[in-house]
Amino acid sequence: MKVLVTGGTGYIGSHVCVELIQAGHDVVVIDDFSNSKPEVLDYIKELTGKEVKFYEFNVLDKEKTEKVFQENELDSIIHCAAFKAVGESMKKPIEYYTNNLMSTLVIADLMKKYGVNNIVFSSSATVYGDPEIVPLTENCKLGETTNPYGSTKAMMERILTDVQRAVPTMSVTLLRYFNPIGAHESGLLGEDPKGIPNNLMPYIMKVATRELECLGVFGDDYDTPDGTGVRDYIHVVDLAKGHVLAIEKYATPGVHICNLGTGKGYSVLDIVKAFQQVNGVEIPYVIKERRPGDIATCYADPTRAKEELGWVAEKGIEEMCRDSWNFAKKHMK
Ligand code: UD1
Repeated sequence: MKVLVTGGTGYIGSHVCVELIQAGHDVVVIDDFSNSKPEVLDYIKELTGKEVKFYEFNVLDKEKTEKVFQENELDSIIHCAAFKAVGESMKKPIEYYTNNLMSTLVIADLMKKYGVNNIVFSSSATVYGDPEIVPLTENCKLGETTNPYGSTKAMMERILTDVQRAVPTMSVTLLRYFNPIGAHESGLLGEDPKGIPNNLMPYIMKVATRELECLGVFGDDYDTPDGTGVRDYIHVVDLAKGHVLAIEKYATPGVHICNLGTGKGYSVLDIVKAFQQVNGVEIPYVIKERRPGDIATCYADPTRAKEELGWVAEKGIEEMCRDSWNFAKKHMK
């Protein structure tokens, strides 16, 4: 298949490109490098021996995006391009709503115009809000999002669902990611956020390289085994493989919703301990106040992914910690 990956040089998108190419697909990428670097294209080539066809601009530019649809006979789209920093989204709601929603509308409109019937969308477990029960199945009620970033994910799901209803030949797949961490085992691809990271693993990585002094653990009085927040961490390469299966297996018309998580919950302190143990690096931490908007526990029921896609997460917490550190040593600081 010929697959357009928007945001294809980003953290998730770059791993998706590698897995797509390795599965025999042709890949076209649009990215504006707003949160990624051009070298990623060389790394994808180094890992796969193949080049992606690359276009540098923001998908919001409809004329340029339309040219990509004209120049390539696309079979499918994997739509990863979006702004994704929770804290930043609270300060820049207009930018977040404009970028994330409008780019999704551009893609949906061009899919309709050019008869491209298959889209896989990068969604997030954030759409479930504060879960009433865990593990979360796809039938759980959607919850209230607590920040503009999360709201854009919920709205983008809604937009694509409505578009599918209006264009019944379309296959729309909403992949709800839990907490992607880790990096490609080569150490070439991974996540290197600008500035002070919001998310746990990038913060730990910067403490490990000694760029940051000490991890703040946001709350130790949650109703969890050790009091710290519990999440379902998933290796980014497993996540990427889920996308390949999704474009191959969810090709039938309709809206397909699928969690991508391991089904296991780890606390913040579990992650700190695993990272220290696997990598032999000390991670100093202090307990801080709870972070506003955080929830106690969130993990997936990954049964549907197994039954419908034949997908199960293969990499455990040790590999996630090892690969994150391997990437950090090579690329951070
Ligand atoms: C966050 C976003 C979520 C987004 C996801 C992307 C919020 C409320 N949610 O999820 O919408 O889809 O990132 O990956 O921001 N923690 C610390 N210290 C830190 C950082 C995090 O203790 O410096 C704790 C958090 O309190 C939480 C856990 O680590 O218990 C995971 O946090 P994080 O990596 O930010 O992910 P989420 O909050 O689950």
